[in-house]
Amino acid sequence: MKLSINMAMTLDGKVVRPDGRWYGLTSKEDKLQMDVYRSQSDAIILGKNSVINDNPVVKIRAFPNALNPRPVILIRNGTLPTDKHVFEESDHIPLVICTKNNLKEIKADLENRAEIFALDSTDLDPKKVTGILKRKGYKNVLLEGGPKLNYSFLDGDLVDRIYLTLVPFVIGKNGLAGIADGTSAMAGFDEREWVLKNSVSKGNEIFLTYDRR
Ligand SMILES: NC(=O)c1ccc[n+]([C@@H]2O[C@H](COP(=O)([O-])OP(=O)(O)OC[C@H]3O[C@@H](n4cnc5c(N)ncnc54)[C@H](OP(=O)(O)O)[C@@H]3O)[C@@H](O)[C@H]2O)c1
Repeated sequence: MKLSINMAMTLDGKVVRPDGRWYGLTSKEDKLQMDVYRSQSDAIILGKNSVINDNPVVKIRAFPNALNPRPVILIRNGTLPTDKHVFEESDHIPLVICTKNNLKEIKADLENRAEIFALDSTDLDPKKVTGILKRKGYKNVLLEGGPKLNYSFLDGDLVDRIYLTLVPFVIGKNGLAGIADGTSAMAGFDEREWVLKNSVSKGNEIFLTYDRR
């Protein structure tokens, strides 16, 4: 299974606005490019905070006949409101992966809206998540953040590709996350060099593809 991160980032390396959300900073070209990546994927992993804060639409809009990837949402603690696009507009019933901590709560809220898979632990180990997705037969999986989730998969060396769109804004405020947001530096990060596979500029944005060496 191939796992690819897909994120947009400002010129000063931020992936969230000062209000903690991400909206209005990408162009039509970026939205089109996102749909290209999504149309090549069979599942799409979303972080809990991204679903709550951004309420992303994961349906492919640019290509009417494309198969939509299945949403996979990771929730370690608590639950999710059901009035989110991901529960209302997907072609597939979302897969929610949770822990033994919040299984009861998740079942009570989401039983009829999602397939629920609980890990027998209190943490949500990204290796176990990729194992589940592999067993389900997914071949190309997109990880669309946010930065905390990206960090946990990158830290586990589970990411094969990073799609990065550089958007022409500078936010400037300190403390805003970049594409990976963890509590410590990743071990051996300076030996884990990524290889630039493609670089395309369209309008005011640059679309980069980096692969794990
Ligand atoms: N620029 C972009 O392209 C882009 C793309 C996506 C999102 N974003 C921005 O990113 C913001 C959210 O980022 P975020 O980093 O706060 O949240 P996130 O990565 O969307 O979600 C993190 C949460 O997911 C849960 N989780 C479950 N398993 C996890 C694991 N193994 N590792 C880490 N977290 C796990 C945790 O919540 P619990 O422990 O409570 O379950 C954690 O707090 C959004 O508001 C959005 O604005 C930007």
